[in-house]
Amino acid sequence: MTYLEITGNQKLSGDVKISGAKNSALPLLASTILSKNVVKITNMPLVVDVRTLLKLLGNLGASYEFSNSDVTIDSTSINSTKANYDIVRQMRASILVLGPLLARFGHCEVSLPGGCAIGQRPIDLHLKALKLMGAKIEIKEGYILATAKNGLQGAHILFDKVTVTGTANILMAAALANGKTIIVNAAIEPEVVQMCEVLSDAGTKITGIGTRTLEIIGSGGKLIDMQDIEVIPDRIEAGTYLCAGAITNSKISVTNVNPDDLDATITKLREMGFGFDIDKKNVTILPAKEIGCVNIQTGEHPGFPTDMQAQFMALALFAKGTSTINERLFENRFMHVSELKRMGANITLNSTIATIYGNGGLIGADVMATDLRASSALILAGLVADGVTKVHRIYHLDRGYEKLEEKLTKLGAKVKRLKE
Ligand code: EPZ
Repeated sequence: MTYLEITGNQKLSGDVKISGAKNSALPLLASTILSKNVVKITNMPLVVDVRTLLKLLGNLGASYEFSNSDVTIDSTSINSTKANYDIVRQMRASILVLGPLLARFGHCEVSLPGGCAIGQRPIDLHLKALKLMGAKIEIKEGYILATAKNGLQGAHILFDKVTVTGTANILMAAALANGKTIIVNAAIEPEVVQMCEVLSDAGTKITGIGTRTLEIIGSGGKLIDMQDIEVIPDRIEAGTYLCAGAITNSKISVTNVNPDDLDATITKLREMGFGFDIDKKNVTILPAKEIGCVNIQTGEHPGFPTDMQAQFMALALFAKGTSTINERLFENRFMHVSELKRMGANITLNSTIATIYGNGGLIGADVMATDLRASSALILAGLVADGVTKVHRIYHLDRGYEKLEEKLTKLGAKVKRLKE
């Protein structure tokens, strides 16, 4: 096992190139199940979750090759429709193969994804929607047994809650269904928009892209003609580095980003007193005269992203005054609080609301990562704590941040990956 050792009181400078979005790469890899041809996907983030999904697709019979950040994948050779527990338990986003496998083969067995650190993470909405499309769904010995003997039928689907991977799963299922599917209350995260665009480029008729109501005309079971794909930049990775600039009150730039996808993050950072220089593909954060407190509530896009909540909590510890964060999406996404408290943070929790008493003055300590984004919050705190912080269990981090210590070191941080 390895850990990250971070020496505190660092200023940062320079720029960091942002990788492709993990949460777009994963559904896009799953969508290749629908393709009648080999697909080349560029700007692929080299993170553990991507490798895990590629391993799953390989186990199903797909073949792929990596070269730097490009993956060429041939899913036409898939000859199994059973996604085993041993892989699905490593990454709940494996559920993204459910829709495309069922749409293409008319049957599949996908292990139920367990919960994860941040919450139960149910998939009831995915299953309810597939049933509306004519699927028979049975849960047996921890597996979802799904069949659609005559293929999936287009349906009118209203999601009780906005679900990102639920929307992606049904988009992929609808692409091969018989007839028209309407999805109401669809997620509109940039990653979902890219999925719509990729399916549209492959010949699927989709209207309402970027809105909460999508209409998809299915191909009636015929595989689609997928084109080469470039994964959109990772707005959460970019936001995390902007928070690194903010917490050290430094001027840094994130390059190769879509600034529009960073709107909620930039808006909140502006509220806290930071300035910005923004052009087509780059965002530079400028130091604040004084870091002001902030009130945040997480929400579906275009609201404040829950995946940025932990990072802003670390930042708020250095704001003047008291900040609040209301985590509205996941029931257990405050596990970084107890770790930050080990560093001297003054935070109180009351149900979904965290109150953060900004006074800075964190002391470096041994802390433990509990989930992907909590890990990044601990690293941000370590950048400005007095002394040395050691972040353990950083396998959580490697799931979603590519070359994090290299990128931070390039910005001037003192970060080392060491063996326990
Ligand atoms: C996606 O998860 C992201 N993961 C998450 O990012 C992100 O936090 C989340 O969307 C919210 O933006 C990927 O895209 C791979 P949801 P997802 O379905 O799709 C409830 C990260 O750090 N719900 O939009 O699983 C659910 O419990 C990860 O990169 C149901 O009740 O999230 C939650 O409260 C963490 N039933 C809310 O909806 C369902 O069937 C939103 O979940 C599905 C979801």
